[in-house]
Amino acid sequence: MAERPYIVGNWKMNGTRAMLAQARAIDRAAQNMMKVEVALAPPFTLIHAVHREVEQIGVGAQDCHPGPDGANTGDVSAAMVADAGAKFVILGHSERRRDHGESNALVAQKAVAALQAGMRLILCVGETEETRDAGKAEAFVTRQLKASLPETLESPADSLTVAYEPVWAIGTGRTPTVEEIGAMHCAIRALLVDLYGAEQAAQVRILYGGSVNAENARDLLAADEVGGALVGGASLTAENFLGIVVAAADTVDS
Ligand code: 13P
Repeated sequence: MAERPYIVGNWKMNGTRAMLAQARAIDRAAQNMMKVEVALAPPFTLIHAVHREVEQIGVGAQDCHPGPDGANTGDVSAAMVADAGAKFVILGHSERRRDHGESNALVAQKAVAALQAGMRLILCVGETEETRDAGKAEAFVTRQLKASLPETLESPADSLTVAYEPVWAIGTGRTPTVEEIGAMHCAIRALLVDLYGAEQAAQVRILYGGSVNAENARDLLAADEVGGALVGGASLTAENFLGIVVAAADTVDS
């Protein structure tokens, strides 16, 4: 486990202002668990409201457009989400790759736009069940990550988090084994060392995502090279999410 685990809630297409109370409760509890870095990525419509409600936790976006501005009806630029209070952007989530046909090249363009707007990245990668069954998961994920990263990244230690989210584990209640997660995270770490050198790579946290909950968090977070979790369904209530944050706090050596 990294020195300071990073637990990020991805609210996906959930939440109206009624959910601000959950964000407040998460923020209040996070103030007493400084060993863990806690963040939420609400939908676009709530970024500013959550940003105004919280003091401790990070607030981010779930996507951004690669361009600066212009005639792109329905799209939201990196500068816009940053202006609303986002400090990071989740990019390349498998739901965007699947539902919006996002390619690795597009994810890389979005990453460049997000960095230019002064935000950090949470770059998501993950294999389908078919790819895992074919024994090609690690080769696929490392290739996907390499192709989704911007060509140049000045200080990955400060700007990059990777999230490994097997597509078949998202929202299914199924997870890889701790050994499988450890092996994948080690493969991702090796690629980062290759790309950025050992010193920078060591500071990039690699999150696990996919059916993380308060019950399994302790085991999943103990896997090799896991620096935290990207949480979907279990991040929608403070009670469930804080169970994961507490599990992460328990893994930190005091
Ligand atoms: P679940 O935690 O609901 O499986 O979602 C994981 C995820 O996709 C987070 O980005």
